[in-house]
Amino acid sequence: MRYALIGCGRIAAQHLPFAVESGFEVVALCDLSECAIDSLLASTGLERLPVQRFTDYKEMVERSALDVVAIATDSGSHSEIALYCLKRGISVLVEKPMALSIEDADAMIATAEEQGVLLGVCQQNRLNDSTLLVKEALDRGAFGTLSHVSVQVRWWRDKSYYEQAPWRGTWERDGGALMNQCIHGFDLMRLFGGEEIIEVSGHIANRTHPYLEVEDVGVGYVRFADGTIGTFEGTTSLYERNLEERITLIGESGTVVLAGESAQDIEVWHFKDPEVMALLDHFNPPPTDSVYGNSHRRVYHLFKEAWEKKGPLALDGRCGKRAMELVLAIYKSHRERGPVSLPLDSFSTEGMRL
Ligand SMILES: NC(=O)c1ccc[n+]([C@@H]2O[C@H](COP(=O)([O-])OP(=O)(O)OC[C@H]3O[C@@H](n4cnc5c(N)ncnc54)[C@H](O)[C@@H]3O)[C@@H](O)[C@H]2O)c1
Repeated sequence: MRYALIGCGRIAAQHLPFAVESGFEVVALCDLSECAIDSLLASTGLERLPVQRFTDYKEMVERSALDVVAIATDSGSHSEIALYCLKRGISVLVEKPMALSIEDADAMIATAEEQGVLLGVCQQNRLNDSTLLVKEALDRGAFGTLSHVSVQVRWWRDKSYYEQAPWRGTWERDGGALMNQCIHGFDLMRLFGGEEIIEVSGHIANRTHPYLEVEDVGVGYVRFADGTIGTFEGTTSLYERNLEERITLIGESGTVVLAGESAQDIEVWHFKDPEVMALLDHFNPPPTDSVYGNSHRRVYHLFKEAWEKKGPLALDGRCGKRAMELVLAIYKSHRERGPVSLPLDSFSTEGMRL
């Protein structure tokens, strides 16, 4: 499987080593800056990797006979690059958020299907051990009737973070705290609460980052089709350090609280069913020192497996769309000052500039 990575910035170090480890044939790296390519190879200890380097992804695609590309560029460029590759029959693994508009996400999904190629989205927290255990309890019906799912993402991003690159904290190329930092929490809210949502109501504000046009805090609620309620609070306004990503599930016969920086820890595991209580005995996640968690590795393994078996991919374009659709619905609700029904036919972060 001939693989290339487009975008060699901060998150690229969660891609390249796992592509190598999973047995992808890494043939090329692309970034607008050659220095970024050098830094990535040095920081991952892969300086000797025999790769071609490109600063123009179109030239790379024309010259490299690729089977798959990973896209880790700024969020605003994901859809354009993905569509260019998908239309040429190349499978795509794109970073979250997969796109910044419903229309672009739909075009990516449709093109992948037309071409019969894979479209994967890096929403890696779906593969965390903590997530998988909660999903197992849900699938066993251990919560009974689920009352509500509450998500709180309380992180810190200061001026120096936003100054790292001009795309950060803009409606055109990023979105705010909910779209960039909290999207994994929304993804898990949908996974746990039931993928089908009928209504979303949200309010956003910018309280502590006056130099940004986007939000740094958002709150609201979600109504799932079966009556389950979701509540959320997400922010990048913490002082000096991340506090937590906390997800609480409350059901008539079970309570779970996931905590830690990325909801990777289990703080509360309390069930009526002793067999489900005992599942916790096997919870022994690999240690992580990164806010990204350690599940990009699993994303790559899953992608490779789907490629070899020509089978479906769990973290596919539809999964990616559902998470960004929820964030866009919150933005739309804020703009329109009222509840918004899902599915959303159209909306984009650009719609927030009007
Ligand atoms: N899954 C996660 O947990 C996670 C974590 C962090 C970031 N991300 C996502 O990854 C993406 C990148 O984030 P980052 O922090 O690495 O950003 P970054 O700014 O550090 O890196 C982006 C890189 O892409 C390059 N680039 C931009 N346009 C390009 C183009 N047309 N061709 C080639 N290279 C191009 C830039 O030069 C830069 O080096 C974002 O969409 C972000 O939301 C995901």
